[in-house]
Amino acid sequence: MDLQKKQSKMEKLRAQIAVCTRCPLHKTRTNTVPGEGDLNADIMFVGEAPGRNEDLQGKPFVGRAGEVFDRLLDSIGLTRAQIYLCNILKCRPPDNRNPLPSEIRACVGSLDIQIKIVNPKIIGALGNFATTYLFEKFRMAPAKISAVAGRVIEVETPFGPKKIAPVFHPAVATYDIHKMDILLSHFQAFKQFCPAHEPYPENIL
Ligand code: URA
Repeated sequence: MDLQKKQSKMEKLRAQIAVCTRCPLHKTRTNTVPGEGDLNADIMFVGEAPGRNEDLQGKPFVGRAGEVFDRLLDSIGLTRAQIYLCNILKCRPPDNRNPLPSEIRACVGSLDIQIKIVNPKIIGALGNFATTYLFEKFRMAPAKISAVAGRVIEVETPFGPKKIAPVFHPAVATYDIHKMDILLSHFQAFKQFCPAHEPYPENIL
């Protein structure tokens, strides 16, 4: 799919999300948080749900977890402009409680479309909820995040082979600074997909 087509499809999806009333979270949201980034990115990250700052600004990961996320990206030479970033839920659960199964079921259709449009090579599942959903979607046996974080799992999908890389949610490093080292090591999984690590072609001269 060319970039123009991707942009037009993502615009249509954004418009649908903006008026979505599929679950009760629409009653308490300030803004929907559809996601953002490079529609041609090789790397897509999926988080859990917008928090207070994200709800106010309509953008993903703009609070403290976002600061951790930016440091993790920077550690492998990436910026947000080079990835696509979104969440399982597009609206904030009140008081940042966990997403309910009914809310996830109502919302993930939009994530499925985002995955199809961006068609990344690797999907970073940020935390338990994204890992659980992506494992289910790609028909993998359910697994606890603690058992699979840091692994890169290859899956066959109707739109080609993909890799799923579950990592801890960046918010954990805001409660427990020791988790930052673990997250930094998990993020090495994405390094091979960073443009900064692509070698120059040998036949350039
Ligand atoms: N946590 C998430 O999972 N997503 C956000 O956008 C912010 C915090």
